[in-house]
Amino acid sequence: MSFAQYQKECQQRIDKVLKSSLVNQHAPASAQRLMKAMDYSLFNGGKRVRPLLVYATAEAVGASLEQADYPAAAVEMVHAYSLVHDDLPAMDDDDLRRGQPTCHIAFDEASAILAGDALQTQAFSILSEANSHLSAHRQLAMIQILAQGSGLYGMAGGQSLDLEAVDQEVDLAYLENMHKHKTGALITASVLLGAHCQDNVEQASLLALREYSEIIGLAFQVQDDILDVTSDTQTLGKTQGADEANNKPTYVSLLGLQGAQQKAQQLHEQALSILLPLGSPASRLKDIADYIVARRH
Ligand code: IPE
Ligand code: IPE
Ligand code: MG
Ligand code: MG
Ligand code: MG
Repeated sequence: MSFAQYQKECQQRIDKVLKSSLVNQHAPASAQRLMKAMDYSLFNGGKRVRPLLVYATAEAVGASLEQADYPAAAVEMVHAYSLVHDDLPAMDDDDLRRGQPTCHIAFDEASAILAGDALQTQAFSILSEANSHLSAHRQLAMIQILAQGSGLYGMAGGQSLDLEAVDQEVDLAYLENMHKHKTGALITASVLLGAHCQDNVEQASLLALREYSEIIGLAFQVQDDILDVTSDTQTLGKTQGADEANNKPTYVSLLGLQGAQQKAQQLHEQALSILLPLGSPASRLKDIADYIVARRH
């Protein structure tokens, strides 16, 4: 199966899991607006890279797709929440996301804040749901992984570093730390969630998977910085040039376009070499590393 086909199948699979998780909530009439805002933010055309990583890592360690369904949905919910809040006027103040008005434009700011809040808690709810495919022990480990990737020591911490850096001169070490947290942490959580679908994964494999995830996590944000400069609003589905307009430090602003592209290539090569000992079960993880630096949106 080609990678494009694999990606499509994973996208269709995760969409079903996400849909059923929201529909089953039987929200009371008073919360219909909130549910619509959550639905809008989850089903407006995301690439589903994080679920893809959960599925591909589960496959690499010999776990089943069923075991990966809930953790894949959980990390995508946290990601969707992070974007809804990232676009708010108090943060990046963006009005376009995935080619459509951002949540706070389509609804209102209060609804966007609440949609983010509720997507986040829904992620932990689905992760802890009675589940015949995962033991309670595995589920607890996953809750810890996702919490670490999302909070002070993960995405939220990185977003804070991002906001502190606006209009400031920061060095490469600061930028790398910021990117590793705001974007890398949820990518690492995705890979670790996939790895924890299976008991008894060798320590060496777990270490290699973690290292791989940290490298592609950084590469993902380096490519995002590059695309902000080289792409166009139509292709991106978000406003091109927003980083420069907001005076955000990026890999392009610090290293120049060529320097940023070289950095992405270096990270790509590093990721592939780390995967080598994992052999053919990790072939989809190689495809994802290729995709992350080649993607056009
Ligand atoms: C965008 O993430 C935000 C970053 C972390 C760079 P994605 O590029 O994965 O966004 P969607 O979900 O596909 O829209
Ligand atoms: C977002 O980084 C990282 C998040 C945690 C949401 P960006 O602010 O660069 O993401 P985009 O470019 O708006 O998607
Ligand atoms: Mg941002
Ligand atoms: Mg943004
Ligand atoms: Mg960006």
